[in-house]
Amino acid sequence: MPDAALDAYCLASRQRHVDELIEALRIPSISTDPAYAADVRRNAEYFAAAARSVGFQRAEVWETSGHPAVFAERLVDPALPTALIYGHHDVQPVDPLDEWYSAPFEPEVRDGNLYGRGAVDDKGQVWMHLKAVEAVLQAHGELPLNLKLIVEGEEESGSEHFEEIVDREHGRLRADVLVVSDTAMVAANTPSLCTGLRGLAGVEVHVRGASLDLHSGRFGGAVANPAVALAEILASLHDPVTRRVTVPGFYDDVREPSASERELFAAVPFDESAFIVEAGGVPGLAGEAGWSTRERLWARPTLECNGIWGGYSGPGQKTIIPASAGAKITCRLVPDQDPLRIANLVRDAVLAAAPAGVTVTAEAREGGRPVVTSTDHPAVRAASRAMADVFGITPGLTREGGSIPPVESFARIMGLPAVLVGLGLPDDQIHAPNEKFTLDMYFKGIRVLGRLWSELALELKAR
Ligand code: BES
Ligand code: MN
Ligand code: MN
Repeated sequence: MPDAALDAYCLASRQRHVDELIEALRIPSISTDPAYAADVRRNAEYFAAAARSVGFQRAEVWETSGHPAVFAERLVDPALPTALIYGHHDVQPVDPLDEWYSAPFEPEVRDGNLYGRGAVDDKGQVWMHLKAVEAVLQAHGELPLNLKLIVEGEEESGSEHFEEIVDREHGRLRADVLVVSDTAMVAANTPSLCTGLRGLAGVEVHVRGASLDLHSGRFGGAVANPAVALAEILASLHDPVTRRVTVPGFYDDVREPSASERELFAAVPFDESAFIVEAGGVPGLAGEAGWSTRERLWARPTLECNGIWGGYSGPGQKTIIPASAGAKITCRLVPDQDPLRIANLVRDAVLAAAPAGVTVTAEAREGGRPVVTSTDHPAVRAASRAMADVFGITPGLTREGGSIPPVESFARIMGLPAVLVGLGLPDDQIHAPNEKFTLDMYFKGIRVLGRLWSELALELKAR
């Protein structure tokens, strides 16, 4: 519903809301690199202080055996429903540094976009939540429901210790619904709500031959080449015609999207040429036969090689048979695939594909489980109305191909359904140089979230 008081407050606060986010983005909270551990902690303290200053009654830094998280709450009335916001305050590394137009931790506004590491993934979107709480309290005096906030410090490095928090603190985290802003909309003028995320599983492969690089003339033809063996192994993991994953059992537990879900996906506008631009101008689209691009991204599992190494790649030529080669593989998973089972199946398929004359080792790694929320959950209706009110268009229902493992932890451990109200855009360059948050999306997001709480209170009370 319209909220003139909220909108007036947001409009008058725009410049300050940008200036404050710029300050928050200056802290280099890179969780995967131990050199930044003190910065991640300082960042947690910074977000806790910010939560207090916008009107959370309590804000605490919660320790884990890894990086700390932030918890805050504003408990209005035990008779009202409770929403829990999840986000992360850590960011990705910034290399390659020389491709940034402005330094990653010296944020800069250019052409209506705020550039900096974490601008949209996810510090900017957590800040958007803080500013929405501030705006509702300033415009209306009180929130229409109880609100809790958990902001973790290790999402970008695999949320290794997050379940530790959920197991230990599920009493204080108790809520009726989870709200997450860590995804993107379809386009700036095509609002969308996300109801599912893929999971992740990984395998690292090492191929070894001789104990040293060999002269390829003296030995070539008489011994196997680890780089070629690795290429054969990797190539064997997809069918060259259908591009299906050949790993035995890989698709066994895949729950196919229902006809009505496929209709919802197809109803979301898809601009193939815009998608190709977002995909860095790839020369063509490719994927599993029998599924649309959307379905390949949102509802089908994949196997990717993320990195490959071995031998000589410097200038000129070096005629050797490399002693070793290796690759990192990850799979994106859909319901009901189990990360450890898939990682083990891929490892077994890699070992089975090893040609004679090399030693192959492969290590399976569990990543995170996929998660979906029912598209007719009342929280999805509430978020849809909040977005429609701000954008003037009813949002499409999407899923995302990326992963946020804690969202599944909340669903499995606490039975919490999630609605993903992400205000990112597909060209935000997350994890890459020149990450940005479009300020118009930031401002609209604050207004969407400001409305979401009253819509949620209505829907959840009506249950
Ligand atoms: N915010 C992203 C997840 C995301 C990306 C959702 C794109 C939707 C679209 C999150 O911060 C992220 O990068 N997740 C990692 C998870 C991994 C480190 C376990 C991912 O998806 O690779
Ligand atoms: Mn994120
Ligand atoms: Mn990320």
